[in-house]
Amino acid sequence: MGDANEERERWNAKFLAGEAQLTEPDSLVVEACAGLAAGSALDLAGGAGRHALWLAERGWRVMLADVADEGLALAARRAVERGVVLTLRREGVGETVAWALQGGASGKVRFDLIVVVWFLAREYFAALPQMLAPGGVLVYKTYTSEHVRFTQGHSLRYALAPGELRDAFPGLERILYRERDGVAELVARAG
Ligand SMILES: C[S@@+](CC[C@H](N)C(=O)[O-])C[C@H]1O[C@@H](n2cnc3c(N)ncnc32)[C@H](O)[C@@H]1O
Repeated sequence: MGDANEERERWNAKFLAGEAQLTEPDSLVVEACAGLAAGSALDLAGGAGRHALWLAERGWRVMLADVADEGLALAARRAVERGVVLTLRREGVGETVAWALQGGASGKVRFDLIVVVWFLAREYFAALPQMLAPGGVLVYKTYTSEHVRFTQGHSLRYALAPGELRDAFPGLERILYRERDGVAELVARAG
């Protein structure tokens, strides 16, 4: 993961170029949330907010955190169009994690659901379980180094090692793990 300011510039340019603007939620998020009661959710590195919006429409209280202003601006416009409320945090993942662990005005922040899709937050793997409320669920999906984008030469800095996600959260109960064609999917629950 790069410096947050570099990532902001890089991702603002992508959003302005019309990239990363999916509107439909990822199938893993839909599958993982099917049986969950709505509560508080964090869409981490959530970009233009496709998961945050989908969750908010289903009654979740959602915080969307992302480093890129342009993605968040798009999410904010979409939230108005869709008549839902999102809480936005424009910051690097390190700041989001620090804020949640140290707590804001009301003390430590804990989520019933954390969603991370297409983003590698390896440095914060140890912290994410601490941000879950008891029984809270982590839904994580991203590329491994076996994905074609990396075998064709993209920087490995954004890729999991094969099998890495399966064992990344030893303190959580693993509910689902799949790894296929260079994509790893995990659903895990806090005790
Ligand atoms: C491939 S997009 C995925 C967006 C969203 N999770 C989805 O599935 O639609 C990656 C996102 O990570 C965000 N990002 C990149 N580096 C970041 C960082 N250091 N902290 C927080 N967000 C970051 C980008 O702005 C972008 O929105």
